[in-house]
Amino acid sequence: MENPAKNCKVWAVAGGKGGTGKSFITSSAGTCLALKGSKTILLDADLGGANLHSFFGLNRPRYSLSDFFDKKIPLQDIIVHSGIANLGLITGSIGSLDSEGINFAQKQKLFRHIRALDAEHILIDLGGGTHINTLDTFLLADKMIVVTVPEVTALENMYHFIKSVYFRKMKFIFKTYNLSATIQDTWKNRASCNVRNLKELIAHLRESSDHIREIFDREMSGFVVHIVLNQVRTTKDILVGENLKSVCMNFLGLPVAYSGYCRQDEAVHDNINSKEPFLIFNRTSPVVKEIKTLTENIIAGTHLSMRKDLANGSLPEIL
Ligand SMILES: Nc1ncnc2c1ncn2[C@@H]1O[C@H](COP(=O)(O)OP(=O)(O)OP(=O)(O)O)[C@@H](O)[C@H]1O
Ligand SMILES: [Mg+2]
Repeated sequence: MENPAKNCKVWAVAGGKGGTGKSFITSSAGTCLALKGSKTILLDADLGGANLHSFFGLNRPRYSLSDFFDKKIPLQDIIVHSGIANLGLITGSIGSLDSEGINFAQKQKLFRHIRALDAEHILIDLGGGTHINTLDTFLLADKMIVVTVPEVTALENMYHFIKSVYFRKMKFIFKTYNLSATIQDTWKNRASCNVRNLKELIAHLRESSDHIREIFDREMSGFVVHIVLNQVRTTKDILVGENLKSVCMNFLGLPVAYSGYCRQDEAVHDNINSKEPFLIFNRTSPVVKEIKTLTENIIAGTHLSMRKDLANGSLPEIL
């Protein structure tokens, strides 16, 4: 099951909270890639709320992921055309990836089939929440993206999501390398080694053994969570992404990439209602450039470069 497009990259778009713009960012980044000429497929895997097709003005497609799982219909055959050249869409189904019924082996199978699709980029819209299946699917992707809005409640949920992803990843590492007993012993005796949380536990284990340090370095190399801020209204909002980077580093010891932001634009709402894909009908909107920047940063693994005037807050307060 070889992928003809060699460097096929699977993106997973998630976030702790509903309504932050995961589907808008997924559909827009996918459109941006397709317009550049990259064969792209969007996969809607949202729990109970599969609506990615609406961002392209399409009705709910006839086939969905449950036909792949239940009726063994090949993934290739449930792709519908989005109406944009190079861009296909696979729709979700109620409960699809989040259902208790889909086990880890089935998720791995889905990923094998996803990677075999004839596409350079496959973007999965995972929906909100921290269900274990969402975390596992997120961790199987090459590009892990969280979308949040710059509001305290959404930021808290996003931090909780990143923390849950990180814990899950650590659990996999501990299990794969038979480290669970060592971890439990260290945690039991944490007072004597001055360990209070996962960050300190990992730092302690890394220092105590070359073997463990090598395992962590190998497993964590290339592990990057990309943050996208959506619906920003002010330049102050844009800087929230920088704070998130510091919070994840200080409290989890986890480097994250701030890939970009997208401003609040009333046209998004209008386009959804009038069944017009945003990027196609708003070519001159500043949002187009913002989507392009964040997409390029995600591909390259680079951070949003903070312009000097932005970083020192000398731009006007309102965008
Ligand atoms: N940049 C934006 N500017 C203006 N409105 C936006 C923007 N992004 C999203 N919206 C609005 O927010 C609504 C929710 O967006 P979207 O459906 O993408 O969120 P979601 O995170 O996928 O939600 P869910 O968790 O329900 O799947 C959209 O219907 C749209 O009206
Ligand atoms: Mg959505």
